[in-house]
Amino acid sequence: MSSQPFQQRRQQLLQSLPDRGLAIIPAATEVTRSRDTEYPFRQSSDYWYLTGCKEPDGLLVLMKGREEGESLIFTLPKDPAMEVWTGIRLGREEAVKQLGVDQAFALDQLDDLLPDLIGQASEVWLPFDDLKLYQRFLEGRQAALRKHKRSASLPDRLVDISARLAEMRLIKSPEEMELMRRAAEISAAAHCRAMRSCRPGQYEYQLQAEIEHEFAIRGASAPAYASIVGSGANACVLHYIANQSEMQAGQLVLIDAGAEYQGYAGDITRTFPVDGSFTGPQKRVYEWVLKANQEAIRQVRPGMTLEALHTTAVRILTEGLVDLGVLQGDLDQLIKDEAYKPFYMHGTGHWLGLDVHDVGQYRLGSRSRPLEPGMVFTIEPGLYFAPDNEEVDSCWRGLGIRIEDDVLVTETGCLVLSKDVPKTIDEVEALMRGQDAHLHN
Ligand code: GLY
Ligand code: MN
Ligand code: MN
Repeated sequence: MSSQPFQQRRQQLLQSLPDRGLAIIPAATEVTRSRDTEYPFRQSSDYWYLTGCKEPDGLLVLMKGREEGESLIFTLPKDPAMEVWTGIRLGREEAVKQLGVDQAFALDQLDDLLPDLIGQASEVWLPFDDLKLYQRFLEGRQAALRKHKRSASLPDRLVDISARLAEMRLIKSPEEMELMRRAAEISAAAHCRAMRSCRPGQYEYQLQAEIEHEFAIRGASAPAYASIVGSGANACVLHYIANQSEMQAGQLVLIDAGAEYQGYAGDITRTFPVDGSFTGPQKRVYEWVLKANQEAIRQVRPGMTLEALHTTAVRILTEGLVDLGVLQGDLDQLIKDEAYKPFYMHGTGHWLGLDVHDVGQYRLGSRSRPLEPGMVFTIEPGLYFAPDNEEVDSCWRGLGIRIEDDVLVTETGCLVLSKDVPKTIDEVEALMRGQDAHLHN
């Protein structure tokens, strides 16, 4: 993998630092799963974004205008005995070569170097949610004070680097767009596989296995979040991840699953009949959710806002609830009273990127943020009728339907990154019968 995109991002961050501004970005660390086993390691998104380095426990340090080099990395020290167990570590020479940084050091040199860096800094940028790093900074500052005594001129301003990086991460570069397209493509292929393989009598975890098998054989590193496979009323639990129930003919199954590809997340939901044919009531609810999804997608273009897309989805879903006889009354009043909330209780979309619920402000001051080319987000309307809601007709109870796509804002509209998995009733039923219909969004 080329280090160039990562170098460019470091340059961009350096440009926004003041002269002698010091930025410190920590890697993630291994987390114990049980006794002496760890969870699969996942690099910190910010650290990955700026280094492309897969190793745990490192630290990226940038200092604007530093003569010996502006970008430094501290990584795990070479340790042949440990490397036999856990794999080859990059080490100083390879870190410079592979990551394109100016200088590399072993982590155990940090305590020696940090006080001098802090002693030269005009201000310091670090993530405000990392207490350990903050403590390390304070200790480095104390050491600088001791070392330089009265001549020390210590930084007097701290800036939250996560907020700055969030703004950068929100607008995707062409390289990132390609990775996100690939993450969505793999996710879509996995959803198609689940539709093709689904049979009554299977268990939800078996569909989860189909999905995650497809992720893995196509080169995804992991699911981007815990896969949700909810049949019947389980679909009404928004983050249902138990995936233990046996699936029955006549039920729908909702799958919300996305692959992580080179750090980037796909996030797709499809809801389809376990036995391949939608029932009459299922079709009626599904068509309204699909309409909300399609109409919101149609409205995406620069200048539009996520809030306005939510308003569009809410309007269509509320209209649907009136059509189904679940709500009665004047449409505008029902929307104003949020009468849809028991059946549509979540937002219509969120930023998508290195994190599934990606970083970036949703509002600028008091105003909803206008969309810009290069932003990627989800559109995921749904309707959910709790199985014990006696206020709705029994034919709707236990139905949960969500249709979620990933879109990339372009100069004139959007690209639907998740377009390869069908979502109209005819297309879904055709795919499940083994006849892949022509897909369109
Ligand atoms: N998969 C979580 C979400 O759709 O937001
Ligand atoms: Mn999702
Ligand atoms: Mn989502």
